[in-house]
Amino acid sequence: MERSRFLLSIMLLLVHHSSICTVGATQTNITTDQSALLALKSHITSDPHNILANWSTTTSVCNWVGITCGARHIRVASLNLSYMSFTGTIPPHLGNLSFLVALTFKNNNFHGTLPHELSYLRRLKLINFGFNNFMGSIPSWFGSFPKLQSFNLYGNQFSGSIPATIFNLSTLQHIDLGINKLSGTYVMYSIVDLSLCFNIFLRLEYITGAILREIGNLTMLKEIHLDSNNFNEIPKEIGHLDQVVGLNVEVNALKGPVPVAVFNMSSLIVLTLYGNSLSGGLPNNICQHLPSLQILNLGRNQFDGPLPSRLWQCREFLKLILEENNFSGSIPKNIGNLTMMKEIYLGKNSLTGTIPDEISHLLNLEGLSIEQNNLNGLFPSSILNISTMRTLSLSFNQLWGSLPANIGLGLPNLQHLYIAANDLNGEIPNLSNASTLIKIDLNQNSFTGFIPRTLCALANLQWLNLG
Ligand SMILES: *[C@@H]1O[C@H](CO)[C@@H](O)[C@H](O)[C@H]1NC(C)=O
Ligand SMILES: *[C@@H]1O[C@H](CO)[C@@H](O)[C@H](O)[C@H]1NC(C)=O
Ligand SMILES: *[C@@H]1O[C@H](CO)[C@@H](O)[C@H](O)[C@H]1NC(C)=O
Ligand SMILES: *[C@@H]1O[C@H](CO)[C@@H](O)[C@H](O)[C@H]1NC(C)=O
Ligand SMILES: *[C@@H]1O[C@H](CO)[C@@H](O)[C@H](O)[C@H]1NC(C)=O
Ligand SMILES: *[C@@H]1O[C@H](CO)[C@@H](O)[C@H](O)[C@H]1NC(C)=O
Ligand SMILES: *[C@@H]1O[C@H](CO)[C@@H](O)[C@H](O)[C@H]1NC(C)=O
Ligand SMILES: *[C@@H]1O[C@H](CO)[C@@H](O)[C@H](O)[C@H]1NC(C)=O
Ligand SMILES: *[C@@H]1O[C@H](CO)[C@@H](O)[C@H](O)[C@H]1NC(C)=O
Ligand SMILES: *[C@@H]1O[C@H](CO)[C@@H](O)[C@H](O)[C@H]1NC(C)=O
Ligand SMILES: *[C@@H]1O[C@H](CO)[C@@H](O)[C@H](O)[C@H]1NC(C)=O
Ligand SMILES: *[C@@H]1O[C@H](CO)[C@@H](O)[C@H](O)[C@H]1NC(C)=O
Repeated sequence: MERSRFLLSIMLLLVHHSSICTVGATQTNITTDQSALLALKSHITSDPHNILANWSTTTSVCNWVGITCGARHIRVASLNLSYMSFTGTIPPHLGNLSFLVALTFKNNNFHGTLPHELSYLRRLKLINFGFNNFMGSIPSWFGSFPKLQSFNLYGNQFSGSIPATIFNLSTLQHIDLGINKLSGTYVMYSIVDLSLCFNIFLRLEYITGAILREIGNLTMLKEIHLDSNNFNEIPKEIGHLDQVVGLNVEVNALKGPVPVAVFNMSSLIVLTLYGNSLSGGLPNNICQHLPSLQILNLGRNQFDGPLPSRLWQCREFLKLILEENNFSGSIPKNIGNLTMMKEIYLGKNSLTGTIPDEISHLLNLEGLSIEQNNLNGLFPSSILNISTMRTLSLSFNQLWGSLPANIGLGLPNLQHLYIAANDLNGEIPNLSNASTLIKIDLNQNSFTGFIPRTLCALANLQWLNLG
């Protein structure tokens, strides 16, 4: 099997080499760049903002919108057509922009196939085809850029597997293939003339989950975004990557426990595995292994067991998202030691016990959401003094007691107050000083008395439920 793959690589390499030689034989200059760009212009079928009127041959291409020329060679170094609302295809002529360092087409409507001539662009450091309409498999020639640092194909409709050649891009620091239809299971490897045998061989390989194994070779990687695809396994080799600050594999088909290798990526700042089918308990000492972690998003999975009790070790935490799992037990009091925390989402779990008063020590908190659990005890009024709070959601628990008279005073930034379906009683408090309130849900409680006239002072209010 290894040998077959090796042969495939050799075949590809030969194809590339012969083509490179053809191009190398012709001298290129700024006129070549101009004809390449005019070819691109003629392949753009819709230009609603009439931007390309600017691409006139009466002036040097270096003055054209979206073009930056290098200072030394006076050749096109950057082609940036981001957010121009173009519809069109990419002509092979772009492969003649031999001094191109950055190629950015993001947020347009380019479609069709990407011509293999782009692989001649040996100086490229940045490729961004994000949010266009390319489909089919990711061409294997993307592995032929010896200096590539940033590789972005997010928001297209690429399917099949990630070609192994990509894992040869040893200078790669940033890879974003999110929001596509990539998977490790279904292989639609569309390199011409692959024999049936080859297809079967590749399919077998990916079913065993080895698809991303080689990702462990890309030791310069800092950011990995594979979100919204169909991957079902994170390989253990990812644990070799000790410079990665961001790993995002949310909304995929991952299952089983959080791969232990992830806890070996000690430089991680953001870890997002939201929306998979991961299960089991969380290790207690996450932040002993990941001391720089600021954002942990494990929401919408099937985790259970207690919340990690050594949360206080996560000194850098800014956001903790564990909503929509089945965590049980109580909220550790030492959550109050994480004083930089901005957002805590623990809703839709099976948490019990009281809301620890220590949460009121979190004086930077902007969002606290613990709705739909089984929390009980006195309503934690002290959190109504966290002046940074924007969203407070404690609905669907068994909290009781009354609310202090003018809770608005301590909440000048509050926009969303959801405390429905608890056992709260007493008068509805004055909220007039929480002047930024947009939505209030006090539904299904036992409040009594009059509806305070002062609610009328809330000029931004759009939604009020007192049912
Ligand atoms: C570019 O090269 C072509 C021939 O390859 C030549 O005819 C042309 O004058 C050159 N243009 C410039 C601007 O050097
Ligand atoms: C094209 O746009 C650039 C930058 O916006 C401007 O400097 C140049 O004069 C324009 N050229 C033409 C032909 O309109
Ligand atoms: C491309 O242009 C967009 C908007 O004009 C800009 O935000 C972005 O930084 C540019 N990217 C590169 C790589 O030059
Ligand atoms: C540029 O590329 C096209 C298509 O790949 C090719 O036909 C053309 O001869 C190339 N060379 C020049 C100098 O434009
Ligand atoms: C990676 O690059 C090396 C050397 O450039 C080459 O020998 C090897 O075949 C390449 N592997 C893949 C999978 O492209
Ligand atoms: C990855 O690294 C291993 C060990 O260094 C090497 O054997 C393998 O060929 C590499 N794979 C690729 C695709 O470069
Ligand atoms: C964990 O990281 C260390 C140091 O970077 C490395 O030596 C080790 O092989 C890694 N273990 C795993 C399971 O990736
Ligand atoms: C959630 O966990 C509790 C035990 O803590 C268990 O009784 C319950 O069945 C679990 N719910 C789901 C949906 O797995
Ligand atoms: C956490 O905060 C509590 C007070 O709420 C304090 O007693 C304890 O020493 C703190 N722990 C650490 C590890 O800082
Ligand atoms: C909120 O803070 C004010 C002023 O510091 C204090 O008087 C009040 O008792 C506090 N309220 C709660 C519920 O802790
Ligand atoms: C709300 O404020 C009004 C006037 O500002 C006051 O008369 C009333 O008693 C207050 N209601 C409560 C519940 O504190
Ligand atoms: C609270 O709101 C009232 C009425 O809008 C206002 O007179 C008062 O100054 C406000 N108090 C504070 C502390 O903002």
